[in-house]
Amino acid sequence: MSRIASGPGPGRASPPGRREPDLSVVVAGVRMRNPVMAASGTFGYGREYAGLVDLGRLGALVVKGTSLEPWPGNPPPRTVETPAGMLNSIGLENPGLDHLLREDLPWLRAQGVPVVVNVVGRTAREYAEMARRLDGVPGVAALEANISCPNVEEGGLAFGADPDEAAALVEGMRRATSLPLIVKLTPNVTDITAVARRVVEAGADAVSLINTLVGMAIDVETRRPVLARGTGGLSGPAIRPVALAMVYRVAQAVEVPVIGMGGIWDGRDAVEFILAGASAVAVGTATFVDPGRPLRIVEEIAAYMSGHGYERVEDMVGLANPGFARRRARRVGAERAERRKERGSEEIEGGDDR
Ligand SMILES: Cc1cc2nc3c(=O)[nH]c(=O)nc-3n(C[C@H](O)[C@H](O)[C@H](O)COP(=O)(O)O)c2cc1C
Repeated sequence: MSRIASGPGPGRASPPGRREPDLSVVVAGVRMRNPVMAASGTFGYGREYAGLVDLGRLGALVVKGTSLEPWPGNPPPRTVETPAGMLNSIGLENPGLDHLLREDLPWLRAQGVPVVVNVVGRTAREYAEMARRLDGVPGVAALEANISCPNVEEGGLAFGADPDEAAALVEGMRRATSLPLIVKLTPNVTDITAVARRVVEAGADAVSLINTLVGMAIDVETRRPVLARGTGGLSGPAIRPVALAMVYRVAQAVEVPVIGMGGIWDGRDAVEFILAGASAVAVGTATFVDPGRPLRIVEEIAAYMSGHGYERVEDMVGLANPGFARRRARRVGAERAERRKERGSEEIEGGDDR
């Protein structure tokens, strides 16, 4: 028995091992065959992994942060390994929107995987312009607004750390596109739920979290920061408990689906995020160590579900989060009451007709 399938479960929905679990999920209107996404910036535009991984078996692929014009990124060194993680200061280097539209999206469309475009910009206007230009483009399943990158001077974290600026940016994007809009949140704030609430009010269909935590490393021989930019973003298992706590809190605070990430290494980690309230998860740094990791995580989630009697991923979402469960029960109750009311008034109207 694999590590993932062992141990007592949080509850049994039906006798274990009866049926093949259904891993499919719908998040912000995006239909995915399983809840495991490749995280932005760690999977390129998919081509980099195509010879190693069957991309069509991923839940979704989030491409790297893309801007209106090509961005050069920060000078090297831009990455360094840290205890149980890594620091990066890539600075959102990317070949720009035209390249994405011309070269990558047509190829990605043929891979049979929902593609989420991670959007970056220097101003709110640039984010909105990206949203406008991507609206209706074949092969784009959703947008993810990256308002949380710690490695750029303008844009990124500057928006994500301020609830008002974040909301204004999301409103602009919302007006510019009818695509599902995911907003990626930064952990580098005092209260992540305040930003989450505001971006949802502004029109986000889902939130994803967490982006990297600001960190640094110093070379004691040169007495200089290891990264050329000084600080960078910390990712990998070192940040997992922080990410999990933030997912737990945000899932209690907003009505939209939460996509959880931060240091997910195996299926058990992914299940932790789902139990905390994540409707889907994304895997980033782990793919640098083992490109096949996201697909192995899919198998391990399935094994957990079989081992614990869960037929659908949805049945596990938020089971370890009573605040989330209460909120969902209230919402479901309110929706049912609303439907009853609608049916009631239809019957009355029907009666009038007869
Ligand atoms: C090298 C690198 C590049 C990244 N680039 C992006 C990016 O372009 N856009 C973005 O939203 N997040 C980016 N991220 C953040 C990841 O998508 C993810 O939120 C974070 O690394 C936490 O997940 P992990 O610990 O599984 O890597 C990047 C992370 C790394 C390590």
